[in-house]
Amino acid sequence: MTPNSYIDRLRSELDEALHALAFPVQPEGLYEPIRYTLELGGKRIRPILTLLACELFGGKRTDALPAAIAVEVFHNFTLLHDDIMDQAPLRRKQPTVHCKWNTNTAILSGDRMQILAYEYLAQTPTGDLLEMLRVFNRTAAEVCEGQQFDMNFENSLEVSLDDYLEMIRLKTAVLLGASLHIGALIGGATNRQAEALYRFGVGMGMAFQLQDDFLDTYGDPQYFGKQIGGDIQANKKTFLLLSALQLATPAQHKQLLEALALPPEAAAEKLRRVKALYDELELPRRCAEAIRYYYDEAQRILNELEGDTRAKEELRNLAQNLLYRED
Ligand code: IPE
Ligand code: IPE
Ligand code: MG
Ligand code: MG
Ligand code: MG
Repeated sequence: MTPNSYIDRLRSELDEALHALAFPVQPEGLYEPIRYTLELGGKRIRPILTLLACELFGGKRTDALPAAIAVEVFHNFTLLHDDIMDQAPLRRKQPTVHCKWNTNTAILSGDRMQILAYEYLAQTPTGDLLEMLRVFNRTAAEVCEGQQFDMNFENSLEVSLDDYLEMIRLKTAVLLGASLHIGALIGGATNRQAEALYRFGVGMGMAFQLQDDFLDTYGDPQYFGKQIGGDIQANKKTFLLLSALQLATPAQHKQLLEALALPPEAAAEKLRRVKALYDELELPRRCAEAIRYYYDEAQRILNELEGDTRAKEELRNLAQNLLYRED
């Protein structure tokens, strides 16, 4: 991301707060992976959204800190389980928890993190906590639904682009929306204002997951921090793959199906062949257009919102930086 001093400051405040979390020493096998995960960094987008949303409506961002920690811990919990499900070896340039320890550890430390998220949300000092809990619970359920669709789609070629868009809305976009929604409620927004901000977050989240799918194939390993080509390896139904299936000529379609059928031992060859077809079909450009569509929609919603000019500007910057992110 391009440097942005205010957002960078929020990120370091969050890094510090996460670093200062006190965990029991025992059992080590439960808490060490949690500490490991939270110390690996990451972009901290969701908690930054919570803090900025609070400030947008005139709240003190220290009041939103427990909720910000909650959304980040919840996000990290989903990563532990997602990396098991996706058999991912790398996260933030380091071995994933299930590889460094084992699958049971990643399951249980993940479970504990989910509880930790609720513990922090409950510490929110102002605003309608019951409403925040309602938003949080609905979102957590939707993330599970999205993850199940993501898994189901691995084994199907009958997935439409609309199915995909709904799947990424659930697994990814709603959590960005909820991070804003909750921050807005803490800052004193009305439900209507918080919901409008939520819609901005969902639009941004759609662009965010489209970009994640793009980077999974086209990212620079030096920045991306995750294994390149994991989605192709797992036959994930991404915007790229679905568009390829839709746009391919009969000959290209045949080549694509042959490449998809390659065994795990031929992972590098599979990546090379599928990517070559993506290039032929100009999918990087098409993907960028789809990202731009959601980004523009998100910005339109933001422009219509009232609120603190500075916080609004920072939200605009954050969304723009995400558009050009490489990690
Ligand atoms: C990764 O999220 C999971 C997705 C929803 C794509 P991030 O890209 O926000 O991961 P970190 O927290 O910055 O590592
Ligand atoms: C992540 O989707 C969604 C959740 C973690 C809920 P991905 O599986 O694409 O995320 P990465 O690429 O592993 O971060
Ligand atoms: Mg994954
Ligand atoms: Mg996944
Ligand atoms: Mg991904």
